[in-house]
Amino acid sequence: MTDGKDFKAHIITLGCQQNEADSERISGALVSLGYTVTDDDASADLIIINTCAIREHAERRALSFIGRYKHNKTKNPDMVIGVCGCMMAQKHRMDQVIRFPYVDFAFGTGSMHRLPEFVYTALTKGKRKFIPDPDKMQICEEIPVLRKSGYKAWVSIMYGCNNFCTYCIVPYVRGRERSRMPKDIIAEVKELIENGYKDITLLGQNVNSYGKDLDGKPTVAYLINEISKLDGDFWLHLMTSHPKDATSEMIDAISSSKYCANCFHLPLQSGSDAILKKMNRHYDIERYLSVVSELKEKCKDITLTTDIIVGFPGETEEDFQKTLDVVSKVRYDSIYTFIYSPRKGTPAAVMEEQIPEEIQKERFNRLVDLQNSISKDFNDAMVGKTVKVLVDGKSKNNENVYMSRTENNRIVHFESDKDYTGQFINIKITRGDTFALYGEI
Ligand code: SAH
Ligand code: SF4
Ligand code: F3S
Repeated sequence: MTDGKDFKAHIITLGCQQNEADSERISGALVSLGYTVTDDDASADLIIINTCAIREHAERRALSFIGRYKHNKTKNPDMVIGVCGCMMAQKHRMDQVIRFPYVDFAFGTGSMHRLPEFVYTALTKGKRKFIPDPDKMQICEEIPVLRKSGYKAWVSIMYGCNNFCTYCIVPYVRGRERSRMPKDIIAEVKELIENGYKDITLLGQNVNSYGKDLDGKPTVAYLINEISKLDGDFWLHLMTSHPKDATSEMIDAISSSKYCANCFHLPLQSGSDAILKKMNRHYDIERYLSVVSELKEKCKDITLTTDIIVGFPGETEEDFQKTLDVVSKVRYDSIYTFIYSPRKGTPAAVMEEQIPEEIQKERFNRLVDLQNSISKDFNDAMVGKTVKVLVDGKSKNNENVYMSRTENNRIVHFESDKDYTGQFINIKITRGDTFALYGEI
């Protein structure tokens, strides 16, 4: 295809880890077509925008990226522009993207295996293609993966979601749960370890329901146990879990694995039983806290992180206080806080009692302030301790300073003359602030 010219592709990734994992497959597919992947959008012959639909802000960013590349296409009419990902799995967004005349093709998360065909059609000046997702989405093991990092890897263990939380667009744009075969997952992890990967994350919208659709019903605990039998030196992370499905079997597997990082992400969403019910979350706070207790009991010194939505329809000040209470009680290492964003087609978007933006923002700020004081306490308590970190590379702002992460994702800065990127080293912590730790080798 290349005719001696070096064809370059640039991929913009706008979503979560699953979206990043998809971009690594897109990169792999494009490399097998003869492209090289570049970070420089100005010199790219092909631009792919991999979108996210989780909140209004994510969709606005995608549209602004699409708008930005009109100029590139005017300068270089031979270039190809494609849009894909979760936002493109929605009909109203697809209709909107068709109206950008310089976009050559768009497709949702279920048609990624057809990317070579879409690129070929665009290059041969065929018809523009706008492909809605198939009704039954499948898993394609054949698409090659080109990983962005040489030491950190995402391994999707399942796709889709069956939970239909009333605020969430994911089940509509990613389809029903599909689990990969255990042998494919374990082979992928084995290869990563053999290639020196140090941080491996098993990915799924709800890894606790892994395997329910497979013969023999293998569980995520089974995967952890099998991976723990392999020889290596790496951290194993899970992302993400639904509290309704967190089992003792999984917690036991985490506590007995020598590779599982001693941290766990357990999305809370709200501290109020009434709101959890309206969110269709299928657990109450008693159940949630019992999972937290079991994790803390079985995995000594485990740290927890969570996702919380503020300003869900009907959330009263009292409901919000209950969220603050849970945050104070659990003492998370960090939390991801989101202002509720109505998603077209979801039940919550048409619920009465939508909360005014000023109230949402005011609650958001109070929650962030509470968590910041907890995070600061955690970081202060780390001073004087020596921790194992995985080095991420030079810090953006300071030449000799490197950035690294602990197994529970705390950021640690340190100075070094030598570059340890991608390696584990030990750092003695000398100082902490709200968002990061500082130390020396
Ligand atoms: N499957 C994961 C969540 C993936 S989305 C889980 O259930 O934990 C990541 C987070 O985005 C969610 O946990 C939720 O806190 C947030 N989120 C999802 N939909 C949202 C919406 N409409 N508005 C605001 N935040 C939302
Ligand atoms: Fe969305 Fe709920 Fe599924 Fe998570 S479990 S992806 S929040 S519907
Ligand atoms: Fe992820 Fe956004 Fe899709 S959070 S699953 S890329 S809607």
